[in-house]
Amino acid sequence: MPSDDDQDGLSRRNVLRFGLAAAVATSAAPAHAGDPKNLPPNVADWSRHLGDGVAVRKYGKPSRHEAHVIRRDVEWLTASRESSVSFTPLHELDGIITPNGLCFERHHAGIAEIDRDDYRLMLHGLVDRPLIFTLDDIRRMPRVNRACFCECAANSGMEWRGAQLNGCQYTHGMVHCVMYTGVPLKILLAEAGLRPNARWLLLEGGDAAAMTRSLPLAKALDDALVAYRMNGEALYPENGYPVRIVLPGWEANMWVKWLRRIEVGDQPWHQREETSKYTDLLADGKARRFTYVMDAKSVITNPSPQAPLNHRSGFTVLSGLAWSGRGKIARVDVSLDGGRNWRTAKLDGPVWDKALTRFYYEIDWDGSELLLQSRAIDETGYVQPTKGELRKIRGVNSVYHNNGIQTWHVRRSGEVENVEVS
Ligand code: MTE
Ligand code: CO
Repeated sequence: MPSDDDQDGLSRRNVLRFGLAAAVATSAAPAHAGDPKNLPPNVADWSRHLGDGVAVRKYGKPSRHEAHVIRRDVEWLTASRESSVSFTPLHELDGIITPNGLCFERHHAGIAEIDRDDYRLMLHGLVDRPLIFTLDDIRRMPRVNRACFCECAANSGMEWRGAQLNGCQYTHGMVHCVMYTGVPLKILLAEAGLRPNARWLLLEGGDAAAMTRSLPLAKALDDALVAYRMNGEALYPENGYPVRIVLPGWEANMWVKWLRRIEVGDQPWHQREETSKYTDLLADGKARRFTYVMDAKSVITNPSPQAPLNHRSGFTVLSGLAWSGRGKIARVDVSLDGGRNWRTAKLDGPVWDKALTRFYYEIDWDGSELLLQSRAIDETGYVQPTKGELRKIRGVNSVYHNNGIQTWHVRRSGEVENVEVS
């Protein structure tokens, strides 16, 4: 038996201390009070009749009572829906894997609907044998599985000049973490045979934007994947069906979806997405280019503006996500007072290289105001900066690569707001 002072123990005394007894829970959360006719001692509606049989629901969906758990967009953010973004509801999820239907989407020209029989991947340029692969060809090759986060470089991009969007779905929801199945890109390149002067690849999408990025050969030969499954299923059309590139730890813009062409060259192509876009203008007018790696970052997902505290006081699990494009998360610290004092959070579940990592910090909330922050430290020793530290180096002209520490103001009412502390 765990001792009474064991925070993680599930002893009876702990359960009571956490205030989870039904009487307390129902009185503390009137919004979820329930319909008395379904509550004990009555026999609930769903216990009175047979339910749907097997295979009535041929493809499973979440309970209709969870219909609010969806991707959301911000209408005023972009001029059209075809070139826009929808955000992952991070505050409604736990663990580290993002369900396929909830992965944020970012398209520059809408979703390409590709017929699997018509799909082709061309590989040409500085190779001995130009090749064209069908989807079946790709699926027959040696494959690997790997979970990694995919974060748009513009994630948190609206927050450069101050706290703006009220919800971690909007401030941090351009990230997902999926188990991919695919062929290492180096295997395809070996099939074609690289010429000695091969240095760069051009990746091109089959959507109407024909999104194109230059990729250094070293990354292609390291851990790039030509992926065709996410969480075991075929890629969803939104995420690049039938084939996309996966570049662990690197900015998502380079993860070309609906991949149609790989050209091998000896220098970068300087496409739109690596010059006027996905380049960071600094305060002195100079710009950073080819900023591929996503630096360590974290966010408290619960509580957060869309997920207030409804219980007034008592046992509370603060929960969040941390990730780093440079490797594993080594530690996450949590502050309750806007960064004055830090305590170490508990990492829970797998801590994988370049994947989302779940952390928890348990408190006995006394009902007073909190200024919640989290700070990620990765295995290279890199410490997530404050927004002030970040702005000192980067200015405020940037859109991309904002990994500053997020602050949530928890009011006594339990409501939560996006704020900044100086
Ligand atoms: N690939 C193509 N072909 N077209 C696109 O518009 N958008 C990029 C990248 N790959 C894009 C693309 C951007 S900016 C991001 S953030 C990621 O795809 C988003 O991937 P997701 O929609 O699977 O979340
Ligand atoms: Co993006």
